Amino acid sequence: MKHPVVVGLQYGDEGKGKVTDLLAQEADWVIRFNGGSNAGHTIWLNGKKVVTHSVPSGVLYEKAQNYIGAGCVIEPRALRKELNEIATAAAPMKPERLKIDFRAHLTLPIHLALDGVRETTNQSIGTTKRGIGPTYVTKMDRLGVRAGDLRLPTGDLKAKIEALCQFYNPLLKASGGTESSFEENFQVAREAGDWMLPFLVDELTPFYDVARQKRCLLEGAQGVLLDADHGRYPFVTSSNTIAGAAAAGAPFPLSKLGPVIGIAKAYLTRVGLGEIATELFDETGERIRKNGHEFGATTGRPRRVGWLNLDELRAAVRLSDCTYIFLTKSDVLTGEKEVKALYEGEYHSFPGWPEMHPGGDTKRLHPNLEAYLGFIEKAAGVPVLAVGTGTDRSALHWRHGRPDFWKV
Ligand code: IMP
Repeated sequence: MKHPVVVGLQYGDEGKGKVTDLLAQEADWVIRFNGGSNAGHTIWLNGKKVVTHSVPSGVLYEKAQNYIGAGCVIEPRALRKELNEIATAAAPMKPERLKIDFRAHLTLPIHLALDGVRETTNQSIGTTKRGIGPTYVTKMDRLGVRAGDLRLPTGDLKAKIEALCQFYNPLLKASGGTESSFEENFQVAREAGDWMLPFLVDELTPFYDVARQKRCLLEGAQGVLLDADHGRYPFVTSSNTIAGAAAAGAPFPLSKLGPVIGIAKAYLTRVGLGEIATELFDETGERIRKNGHEFGATTGRPRRVGWLNLDELRAAVRLSDCTYIFLTKSDVLTGEKEVKALYEGEYHSFPGWPEMHPGGDTKRLHPNLEAYLGFIEKAAGVPVLAVGTGTDRSALHWRHGRPDFWKV
């Protein structure tokens, strides 16, 4: 059996949730393999709005087990808050349904402080200020604190946190911040130890056997163009976001991955700094932002809006070796007289679609939208399998039928 990987093909916020929610219904396991509480996903649990950051999409379905992989970073207080919200809206996430890889690194107050102070300098890149960059820095620096470290004898855990503070407080102070005390960092770790231990998994290869028996869904966070190696550096996040990162970040057996479902918006949005070649500064951009509710789920920041950049999209498709594209939010462009896309460095213009379906016939998409999709397919080199046609979870139009995502 092979297992689908869902990744964003742009700068995050592509509407991956629509697809992951759909696939999670059929999955036994939903696995996050990168990022931390920088991701944001709005879900409705029993009519109550919950924004999830670290908990995988399987939270919606009783049957699914959820896994926060080794390549993720976890801010303990934020995760606790998220779990409390889920418990209030639905039922508590028990350790039978949520597992945390012992290798995932913890985001402690010193990481949040380092991210925060850096963002006040002229070296800001517009992060979500969730301590993501510094947590991956201390991981690579081999000074990080891992979820599994919460099981250490108190003296050993203290020594780790002391070393972290010893090496990174001078940097924090030199950047204009105030020292993050050992006590406040240890306090957060100790609190985490009070509740997180039952969720921890110690297996080195948690999915080696599972991948041969159960349906898994690999859920990527952010988007390919924010990949630390392959994105638009330095305006990137600090983890790998391409589909290949699932193998290392879960970890998941490489030969069991695929198909890769790349999610792209019918236009482009970005939060944070960095160039958008197709950025719209006019009333068209305003209208799209408003109609598409383009405000960050994690930070509430208004998202910058632009036309689709097919040169970037093609690169993203290739970097993630996508099998097909899901195009979300094409309904947001309904009523635009003209829709544009950048391809081979030049703008191409397409007549807009006054309605999604010609004469309300939901079996077909408007021919102008079909023409736009045909161009995207040719440019990207893979089929546009489905199109999001509205905010409702079920508002999806399958253009080439619905495949079995877990082919044996
Ligand atoms: P960080 O991941 O918080 O370090 O932020 C680095 C860059 O990635 C910034 O431009 C953020 O706005 C962006 N980013 C991080 N996570 C997301 C996300 O889930 N959606 C959209 N942008 C994100």
